[in-house]
Amino acid sequence: MQKPLLVAPSMLAADFAKLGEDVAAVDRAGADWIHLDVMDGHFVPNISFGPDVIRAMRRHTKKFFDVHLMIAPVDPYLAAFADAGADLISIHAEAGPHLHRSLQAIRALGKQAGVVINPGTPVSVIEPVLDRVDLVLLMTVNPGFGGQAFIPEVATKVRAVKALVGDRPIRIEIDGGITPETAPIVTAAGADVLVAGSAVFKAGTEEGYARNIAAIRAAGEAARG
Ligand code: DX5
Ligand code: ZN
Repeated sequence: MQKPLLVAPSMLAADFAKLGEDVAAVDRAGADWIHLDVMDGHFVPNISFGPDVIRAMRRHTKKFFDVHLMIAPVDPYLAAFADAGADLISIHAEAGPHLHRSLQAIRALGKQAGVVINPGTPVSVIEPVLDRVDLVLLMTVNPGFGGQAFIPEVATKVRAVKALVGDRPIRIEIDGGITPETAPIVTAAGADVLVAGSAVFKAGTEEGYARNIAAIRAAGEAARG
């Protein structure tokens, strides 16, 4: 059974001076999930926001909070993100030496767990943890900034992850450079959650967000097998 295709706008591309309004606007505009990019200036060369800002956004929408941690270490902060209202917490395989321990800690907090790999990291890294995750996130840019160009070679990795996942109820998410032009490349390969920052928020109005989300969804759906 094919899972419904989900579109997850990234609040990294929203107006940080009005995150509450913008998260409510993408909620009404048809977002399935809300993607929240946490950057520490250490694991990635940029700093975004932390648990208190996520907690503040939590009051403005009931949508599923998909929290993408680009921080190292992760373990000391997991409880704070769970408490701030995350529904799913994803951690990078590259961010620490004890991947099982961190994934186990997320589930022990009662949250869904995701594992993320950068474009240059081989898919084999996630194989040992597939029974401990609800989602695999494949980066199609090097994390740290919105608005970067999609790396098409990752499509091969999406196919490999799809085969490894098999019948497990694991979602395959793609993050970086997703637009109506690139979405079909990854949904044809088996992706079922699409993160999009600039391609949604560049519109600047709620009507525009709705149009952009619908265009990404339609292009992605049309290419699914
Ligand atoms: C990149 C972040 C992405 C980013 C995507 O480090 O993980 O979620 O916001 O932005 P776009 O869609 O603009 O590439
Ligand atoms: Zn992200």
